[in-house]
This record gives sequence, C-alpha cells and structure tokens, in this order.
Amino acid sequence: MNITKICCIGAGYVGGPTMAVIAKQCPDIQVTVVDLNESRINKWNDPNVENIPVYEPGLSGIVAEARGRNLFFTTEVDRAIKEADMIFISVNTPTKTYGAGKGQAADLKWIELCARQIARVSTSDKIVVEKSTLPVRTASTLKDILKHTGNNVKFQILSNPEFLAEGTAVDDLLTPDRVLIGGDQDAEGKQAIEALVNIYARWVPKERILTTNVWSSELSKLTANAFLAQRVSSINALSELCEFTEANIGEVARAIGTDSRIGPKFLKASVGFGGSCFQKDILNLVYIARSYGLNEVADYWEQVIIMNDRQKRRFANKIIKTLYNTVNGKKIAFLGWAFKKDTNDTRESAAIYVADHLLYEQAKIAVYDPKVSADQMYADLDYLNTRTVEENQLLVDVVQDPYEACQDAHAVAILTEWDEFKDYDWQKIYDAMLKPAHIFDGRNILDKGQLERIGFKVSAIGS
Ligand code: UDX
Ligand code: UDX
Repeated sequence: MNITKICCIGAGYVGGPTMAVIAKQCPDIQVTVVDLNESRINKWNDPNVENIPVYEPGLSGIVAEARGRNLFFTTEVDRAIKEADMIFISVNTPTKTYGAGKGQAADLKWIELCARQIARVSTSDKIVVEKSTLPVRTASTLKDILKHTGNNVKFQILSNPEFLAEGTAVDDLLTPDRVLIGGDQDAEGKQAIEALVNIYARWVPKERILTTNVWSSELSKLTANAFLAQRVSSINALSELCEFTEANIGEVARAIGTDSRIGPKFLKASVGFGGSCFQKDILNLVYIARSYGLNEVADYWEQVIIMNDRQKRRFANKIIKTLYNTVNGKKIAFLGWAFKKDTNDTRESAAIYVADHLLYEQAKIAVYDPKVSADQMYADLDYLNTRTVEENQLLVDVVQDPYEACQDAHAVAILTEWDEFKDYDWQKIYDAMLKPAHIFDGRNILDKGQLERIGFKVSAIGS
C-alpha cells in the first residue's frame, strides 16, 4: 500500500516535530497536522518560524523548509481525516483526575473522541496509528469503536510509540536508536505494518525498524520510560546517601557507568525527573499491574515515583534549612523552569513543586528561564490549586534577565541545566546578592570550587 496523504491529530510536542520530520524526509507525501486548539495551529502557521509553539533545536528550520510544500497545519479536522490514507493519533492522554483510576490511569477520553471522529467522517480504508502513549490494549478499544461506528470502511490499527526526548527531538527523529511498529499479525495487519515501515525506511536503516504485535509495542513504550525513570530515581536515591557520607555522586556515577553492562547515560543526579511521560507512564504501569492483582509488581514501580517526589521535596527542604529554617519574605532566584534544557515544556517540571513548597513557607521567588513564558509559569502554579491566582502573582516574579532575578536574593537555585547558566558572570551575581550568598545547584552544572572562591556557599546534589 502506497501512502500519499498523512493526517496527524494533535499538534503538540510529539505530533508537531514528528510530522515535520516525516514531511522533510518524504516530500512526496502530503502531511497535514490538525488540532482542536486554534491558537496552537495559528502559532504553527506564524510567518516567523521562530514563533512556532514548540521549542526544539533545529525544528524551526525544518518547518520553514516543509511548511506550505507538503506540511500543513489546520483546524479542519474532518477534511484532513477524510483525505488521508494514514492517520496518526498524537493527542494528549493525561492522568485521570476523577473516577476509577483517579491519579493513575490514563484518561482516554480524547482518544475515544478521535476514534469516533475518524469513524464518522471516513469514506475510504485507513491505517490508524497510535502515536500517543497508551495503556496496553487500547488498540482494541480503538478497533471496537471504528468497527461499530464506521461507514463499513476497513481500519487497521498500528502502534508506533514515540521515543523522542524533548530538547533532542529532531536528532532523535532523524537518527533514532530504533523505530517500533506493532500491528496485527494477519495478512492485512502485516500489509499495514509494511506501509508504515516503508515510510521510515526512507531514512532509517531497516535493521533499526522493529515490528511486533500491538500489545508488545504498547507495553514497550511504558517499559522503556519506566526503566529510564528508574535509573534517575536510583541515582537520586544514592545521591542522598552520598550527602551523608564522604562519597560523591558524580564519582559514583562515573565509576558505575564505565561498566558496559550499566552504561554511562541517564546517571545524572538531579532535583528530580519531570516531563510529560515518566510519571504518567509509570503510574499507568502501576495501574495496569494492580488491575491484574499484581501488587508487588505495582509497588515495585511505584517506588520510582515515591523516590522522585522525595528528591524534589528534599531539595526544597535543604534550601529552607540552610537559610536558617525560614524563607519567609526572602527572595530566592530560580534559574530555569523547564523540566530539562533545550525545551519550553514545563509539564511535571521539578521547578513547579520546589517553588510550591517554598511558597508554602512564604518565600518570594524570582524566576528566569530562557524559553518558558511567564504565563506558562503562573499557569503551572495555579494548576496546583495550593493558593489563589493573586497570591501566586504576588509571590512570584518572572523576569527576562538572570542578573535581575538574582539581585538582592538570599539564594540562587538551579532548576534546569541550561548551558548558558554556566557562563554567567558569577562574580557580578555574587556582588548583587545578600550575604551569605547561597547557591543550590539542583543539576550539578556549576563549578563548585570556582563559586566557593568567589565567596558563595554552595550546595550541590549528592556531595
Ligand atoms: C504526547 C503524547 O502524544 C502523549 O501520549 C505522551 O504521553 C505525552 O506526550 P504531546 O504531544 O506532548 O503528547 O501533548 P500536547 O503537547 O499536549 O499535544 C496534544 C495536542 O492534541 C494538543 O495540542 C491538543 O489541543 C490536541 N488535541 C487533543 C486535539 O487536537 N484533539 C483532541 O481531541 C485532544
Ligand atoms: C522521555 C524519554 O526519554 C523518551 O524516550 C520518551 O519518548 C518520552 O519521555 P523526555 O521526557 O522528553 O523523554 O526527557 P528525558 O530526557 O527522558 O528526561 C526526563 C527527565 O529526567 C528530565 O526532567 C531530566 O532532567 C531527568 N533526567 C534525565 C535526570 O534527572 N537525570 C538523567 O540522568 C537523565
């Protein structure tokens, strides 16, 4: 089957970059990205590509190249679905905030709505691709809806989970470690798998394109994220132990990372992992395990989250304790708000929870992040519902200049590992701060010795 038109529902952090790269690599395929959110679509269509809603190194250039040629962003969902041979579902699947599975299970409301919409408007056979991370066996729900509400056209469901990491999305898409495609194992299923394989095969070596059954594919995505998050929680757990002993977590990470069975990546101790996937996917895994009565399996993975929550809380508590057990009315400068560097995404960012805890103790926070907007920061805090919108506005000040953020502060806290933080004039920052001037490096990116020579009191993670 030769695919000539692709539609992607959801123009977010996954749908946008993924479709931009497919369009770049396959100029003969028309790729249309749709979203219910009109303002988001307008931003993707902004004549100045620097204003697209997702910040990713290299992305704006690709959008500039493909947009209007074979890459389109629109809110005309029905038309795009109707015309497409292949439809990617890339909508968000937040954790349920109500009812059964509240706080753990994924809310599949949007996925179901997409399925119903696809069924309603389709008048020709289609391949539907799950791009969103979904609980295992969601494909059967999709299939059921499509079969029972459709216009007697045929649908094949594939699972093609996204492994890109934000901040490196373009590279991850252009040179992925692997592409995973799950589908039915009958003849028609295999044909559908082949159609998607052929798209990726234009730039991904064949041996890196893995095909499996649908359930293995769905579960592999949750498992990959659970393993990655577990590494971070493991190193963070040891960072706490290091702080009580003479050990240094950087040295420990180097020592174990050189063991080829362990490997050097994902061993950076931090203020805690964030992002849209890790917590949600583990909770999902925990929920599935528990629903099969596998309580030990569920508890095992849940501990990864518990450890992460502790790490964030511990960082905030350390600031409070070091500032003589009170931060009431004290200005604390936050450098970084995004959940990692090179992205403007703040979902589940550790910064939000550290800020919330300090605000609970009546601190005043001044935040600087190179890519996150003030509106986003306030929205993140308001979403927690810990205090009123007005109180958040009053206690948190968002500034455009890092030196202004640090002016007259009692402490500077590094929440995101943006490269530019390393090159600041730290002497100038020191001179403008109240003394003793504290730095809490939640990412271990600054040169501790150099800062101490200037006069700072430095707390890092795990040393
Ligand atoms: C992704 C994945 O798809 C999700 O499974 C993963 O677990 C988290 O990351 P992401 O692209 O980051 O989602 O989400 P987001 O940036 O929120 O984008 C989703 C988009 O879908 C939003 O722009 C939203 O407006 C849109 N949407 C949602 C629709 O167009 N239709 C809907 O019915 C629901
Ligand atoms: C993750 C997966 O890596 C990706 O494959 C999947 O598709 C989506 O989820 P992402 O959430 O974008 O990607 O970022 P990732 O680089 O995995 O980082 C997640 C969090 O862990 C960040 O907050 C990061 O700062 C933190 N982290 C990562 C650490 O604290 N230490 C590390 O060593 C690595």
